[in-house]
Amino acid sequence: MSNREHEIYDVVGVGFGPSNLSLAIALEEYGARGPEDGISSLFFERQSSFGWHRNMLLPSATMQISFLKDLVTFRNPTSSFSFVAYLHAQGRLPQFVNNQDFFPTRQEFHQYLEWAQAKVADRIVYGSEVTSIRRPPGAVPELSDRLLLEVADATGRAGRVVEARNVVISTGLVPSMPEGTERDERVWHSSEFLAKYRRTDPGELRRVAVAGAGQSAAEIARFLYDELPHAQVCAIVPSYGYSVADDTPFANQVFDLGAVDEYYFGSEQTREAFWRYHRNTNYSVVDDEVIRDLYRRSYDDDVRGVRRLQFLNLTRVTGVKRAGAETRVSLQEGSDGEVRELDFDLLVCATGYNAMEPTDLLGDLDRYCLRDEAGRYRVERDYRIVTAPDMRCGIYLQGGTEHTHGLTSSLLSNIAVRSGEIVDSIVARRAGPNDESDESTVLAEAGKGTFR
Ligand code: FDA
Ligand code: NAP
Repeated sequence: MSNREHEIYDVVGVGFGPSNLSLAIALEEYGARGPEDGISSLFFERQSSFGWHRNMLLPSATMQISFLKDLVTFRNPTSSFSFVAYLHAQGRLPQFVNNQDFFPTRQEFHQYLEWAQAKVADRIVYGSEVTSIRRPPGAVPELSDRLLLEVADATGRAGRVVEARNVVISTGLVPSMPEGTERDERVWHSSEFLAKYRRTDPGELRRVAVAGAGQSAAEIARFLYDELPHAQVCAIVPSYGYSVADDTPFANQVFDLGAVDEYYFGSEQTREAFWRYHRNTNYSVVDDEVIRDLYRRSYDDDVRGVRRLQFLNLTRVTGVKRAGAETRVSLQEGSDGEVRELDFDLLVCATGYNAMEPTDLLGDLDRYCLRDEAGRYRVERDYRIVTAPDMRCGIYLQGGTEHTHGLTSSLLSNIAVRSGEIVDSIVARRAGPNDESDESTVLAEAGKGTFR
């Protein structure tokens, strides 16, 4: 890649998953209104090509939201980037409708995302990792509306520096392993599952374990049971059995657009109630169909008098040791139960993710970002971090805003509208700062938060 110094963009996106893809489309559609309206943009993605949780593209995995919650429809139902437009372009619209299913496979949705990104490809740079975001040296007042981003190429070599008036960070969820457990060739996190599975001789996997009771764990347990007919599959489940993901209509309202306002402008009690009553719409829960598939397999085992699928209920992984070729897993039943050890050929930790965390990326810039009493970023309704009053450039978050905007922060449900709101905000702020309503000034003066 050429070393192009000091390119300046209105918007630079960090990460190019569905969230920033949706933003690139929103910018494209905004720009289509006329050349004078155009907002220049560039997106950096560290993967060498587009990929949406590729390592979990298991053959029968389906989407967990309706196809209508695609990249655009809730913002612009007439967009040419919709899932329906994609189906039409593929000549598959009638067949899709005949299928009478709101939930396509993840593989088909991935193809849709690839089709959509190809239409905005001129603004995406793959194989490029943003390694830091900072203020220009000296940060003279006339440059207070600029940020510098350093970008490394696929070899890790830093080379490119770009300037941005706004940065939109969307680097995704961060895999979480059980404490005391390191990944290696036989201890995997679910986020690396298929890549590592394909590199492994299935004949060597005779006794495998999957830890977790969420969607990833259940899908992987089902996959391994089906793919490895010679193997024993042990599900290490912290609950007494998988619990169903509540996607019934009333509960599903927590993903509605109105719920973002209810959450954002609600009291602490309101926010706490969202989590208390509705965490089971997303976390540590499994689709009904996958639960039934697994139970059916387990029952069929019973009928045949074999025990290929085993469940260690109320059990958590507390550590892993390497014992020659064996992976020795420490397991604890309940919080004060005895710890025992079992040997496996493979342990897959489908133990979830932590929220997106931009602190490292922001480096020294972090001290211009306002934090709440719990040390979390203060974020405005338009997803812009509340920054020091003299900073005119915007740092927007797509992800990592569960504490301010609620459950949809890391999900697809709201990306179309959220991207539109970010574009609107960038356009409005471009027209000129409004000091009276500028939340950074108001909050900082009211002492609501601290800069580190
Ligand atoms: P996402 O993680 O997709 O993308 C972030 C991108 O940033 C990655 O491509 C990464 O490589 C890149 N990146 C990171 N750091 C970078 C850097 N410094 N520089 C450049 N690039 C960088 N939700 C839902 O609503 N419905 C669903 O069906 C599913 N299904 C689903 C399946 C699986 C297996 C998982 C793990 C999760 C889901 N989710 C989901 C939730 C999931 O968070 C959501 O679907 C999207 O991935 C969110 O899109 P983002 O673009 O925000 O993050
Ligand atoms: P998750 O829902 O957070 O589940 C993680 C599971 O791991 C929980 O059951 C957790 O139990 C358990 N766990 C944590 N530490 C453990 C330990 N030490 N030992 C044993 N178990 C442990 O994570 P996920 O299943 O990866 O799902 C994450 C997101 O991806 C969700 O939004 C989900 O819907 C999505 N997803 C979607 C699809 C799809 O679209 N088909 C597929 C996979 C995932 P505790 O809760 O008790 O800690």
